[in-house]
Amino acid sequence: MAEPVLQIKGLHQYFEKGTPSENHALDNINLDLEPGEFVAIIGGNGAGKSTLLNSIAGSLPVSFGQIKIAGEDVTYQSVEKRAKLISRVFQDPRQGSAPLLTVEENLSLALKRGSWRNFWNRGVKRNERAVFRQKLESLGLGLETRLNAEIGMLSGGQRQAITLLMATMRQPELLLLDEHTAALDPQTSATVMNITDQIVKQQQITTLMITHNMADALKFGNRLIMLDHGKIAIDIKGDEKKGLTVPDLLDMFKEKSGAEMTDDSVLMSE
Ligand SMILES: Nc1ncnc2c1ncn2[C@@H]1O[C@H](COP(=O)(O)OP(=O)(O)OP(=O)(O)O)[C@@H](O)[C@H]1O
Ligand SMILES: [Mg+2]
Repeated sequence: MAEPVLQIKGLHQYFEKGTPSENHALDNINLDLEPGEFVAIIGGNGAGKSTLLNSIAGSLPVSFGQIKIAGEDVTYQSVEKRAKLISRVFQDPRQGSAPLLTVEENLSLALKRGSWRNFWNRGVKRNERAVFRQKLESLGLGLETRLNAEIGMLSGGQRQAITLLMATMRQPELLLLDEHTAALDPQTSATVMNITDQIVKQQQITTLMITHNMADALKFGNRLIMLDHGKIAIDIKGDEKKGLTVPDLLDMFKEKSGAEMTDDSVLMSE
């Protein structure tokens, strides 16, 4: 079998360790992702989803355990160093692109892996522009005619779709999506989810996606993980995942954790 793209061994995260308010936010997480796996992560508020992504991305130092990406031990690497391996898209559409630059300038910057020096020296080449136009066209949002529009003038959904293109312009080893459709209205969210699915499948990018929407978690990806109190409570793949419904998932959660799912936003997303 191919080497896992992501390998997490015995990961623990504590907040305020040794104080009365100690919080064991991740409790012995062991997780391997095979190349091309698309994993949806769900779980109630405070389950540890963002803490897991922050640990992988390096924005949170690890309390105990080991994280490897593409065979490289990144446990103690800086965010900047491991950014060569990881792309991340956040919830806020304003976070992933430069508002005063145009669509093509943003895409060009992504192509140069955020190197401003290369960007200013070379500008946008004609052959690059052709690639950008074709990639924008594939989004189906008509953005191929907006290459010279300032990104800040676009809608949240348009901007998030372009952020996805930027994050995947150079093939990352690992794509981290942190509730990247949660700030969008339902229809736009569905559009961006379909675009996500298209890009991830086409480029076979190994992806971890946090979502509060159980229906999306069931519809997209080949694997579903539910976190509960810092532990992996459910981990289902392939055919086992395909036949599941939202009520099945809620039942599974109840069985594993002995409690009802109390996250309102999850329940409302049915
Ligand atoms: N910087 C921090 N300092 C102290 N405690 C924190 C910090 N970040 C997270 N926590 C705590 O760790 C636990 C896990 O939080 P986390 O943000 O990972 O949950 P989540 O699953 O992403 O929840 P949500 O769905 O609400 O975003 C929670 O109890 C939270 O209060
Ligand atoms: Mg979170």
